[in-house]
Amino acid sequence: MRGDFLLKEDVVFLNHGSFGACPREVFEIYQTWQRELEAEPVTFLGRRFAPVMKQARQDLAAYLGADADDLVYYPNATQGLNVVIQSLAENLPLVAGDEILSTSHEYGALDKAWTFVSEPRGVIYNRVELAPPFTTAEEFADRFLAHVGPRTRIVYLSHITSPTALRFPVELIVKRARALGLITVIDGAHAPGQVAINLTEIDADFYSGNCHKWLCAPKGSGFLHARRDMQKLLRPVIIGHGWRTTPPGESVYVHEHQWRGTFDPAPYLTVPAAIEFQAHHDWARIRADAHVMATYAMNRLIDAFGEPPMSPATTDWWIQMVAAPIGRCDAGAVSTRLYEDHNIVIPIIDWGGRTFARISVQAYTTRTELDLLVDALVDLVPKFPHPSAKSG
Ligand SMILES: Cc1ncc(COP(=O)(O)O)c(C=O)c1O
Repeated sequence: MRGDFLLKEDVVFLNHGSFGACPREVFEIYQTWQRELEAEPVTFLGRRFAPVMKQARQDLAAYLGADADDLVYYPNATQGLNVVIQSLAENLPLVAGDEILSTSHEYGALDKAWTFVSEPRGVIYNRVELAPPFTTAEEFADRFLAHVGPRTRIVYLSHITSPTALRFPVELIVKRARALGLITVIDGAHAPGQVAINLTEIDADFYSGNCHKWLCAPKGSGFLHARRDMQKLLRPVIIGHGWRTTPPGESVYVHEHQWRGTFDPAPYLTVPAAIEFQAHHDWARIRADAHVMATYAMNRLIDAFGEPPMSPATTDWWIQMVAAPIGRCDAGAVSTRLYEDHNIVIPIIDWGGRTFARISVQAYTTRTELDLLVDALVDLVPKFPHPSAKSG
C-alpha cells in the first residue's frame, strides 16, 4: 500500500509511531476542508462549524464506543492530558503528600506535566520501576497496584507505551483502581487504530488519545474523553466563548472545551474519513499481518543479539509497534547512521539499562525493509558501543 501514502519513496519508514502518516486519499479530504474554510471563513467558522464538528464528534464517538457529549477534540494527547493534569491538581485538589501512581514506561512530556503540578504542591509523582519480563495482565496489575499507598489519589498509565511499545492491561487496572477509590487517567496516544477501543468498557475517568498516529488522520487530531460524573473536575485551560454559554447547550463539557479561539478544525473534520479509510481496507487484517511481520523482525533481532524480549509476542502485549531488544549501544549514534547511511527512519531507545529498536509496522511496510533494518543493525551496533562501555 506504499502508493496509498505520501511517504517519500526512497525512505525506509519504520517510525509510524512518532507522528503517524496520512494516506493520500485522507489527506485530500483534509485539504478539501481547508479550502472550504478559506473560501468562506465567516460562514464556515460561524455557521457550519457547530454541525460539522458535531458530526465529526459523533463519528469518532461511535468508533471509540463513547457518547459524543463526553468527547472533545484536542490537537493531541499532550494537550488533552494537560487539561486533566492541571485540572485535577487545582480542583481535586492535589495537596502535599498526595501521590500519583505511574510507571517507568510513560511518555517524557507527560512525566514533565505531572512533575510541573506536583513539585510546587509537595505531591509525589511516583514512577514505579516496572522491569520486564511481563507475563500476564494479572501479574502486571498485581505488581503495579502493590504500590498503592494510603495517600495515592490517581493512577496514571499508557494504554500503549512510548519507549517500550507495550500494551498495558488498562481495562483491568481501571477496574481494580476504581475498587480502591482511585481516579484513573489513561494516555491513549498510540491506541486508536492499533487496538479496537471501547471507552465505555474501559471506563477510565479520563482517557486522551491521538487520531494522527495509528488511525492515520491528519496531524493535530486528538481527543479527550471524560466520564460524565468527572467532567465537573475539568476546567478548560483556555477560557473562551464556550465558557458560561447561555443557554448551556447539549453538553457543557463540549462547549467549554471545543472553541479555544480561532483555529483550523480541518484535522478533526477529516477523522471520519480516516476511520472510513481503515474500515474500507479491512484494517483488522492489516493489523494482524503487521503483527506477524513485526514478530518476524523481532525474532531475527533476538537471534542476532541474543537479548530476551520484554513480553510474550502476542497482541495482548504489543500489536504493530514493538521495542525489539538489540545489543547495548550508543542509541543516538546508531539511529543517526541508520538514517544517514541507510535511509532508515526508526527510534533507537535507551531504556532500563538496555537498548531497543522501536519498530513500527504499518500497511505500507515490507519484509524487505525489515531485513534491511536487521542487516544494518547487525553491522552498526558493534561499531557504536554504549558510552558507559567506552568510559569503563
Ligand atoms: C505514550 C505517548 N503519549 C503521548 C504522546 C504525545 O503525543 P502528541 O505529541 O501527539 O501529543 C506520545 C507521542 O509519541 C506518546 O508516545
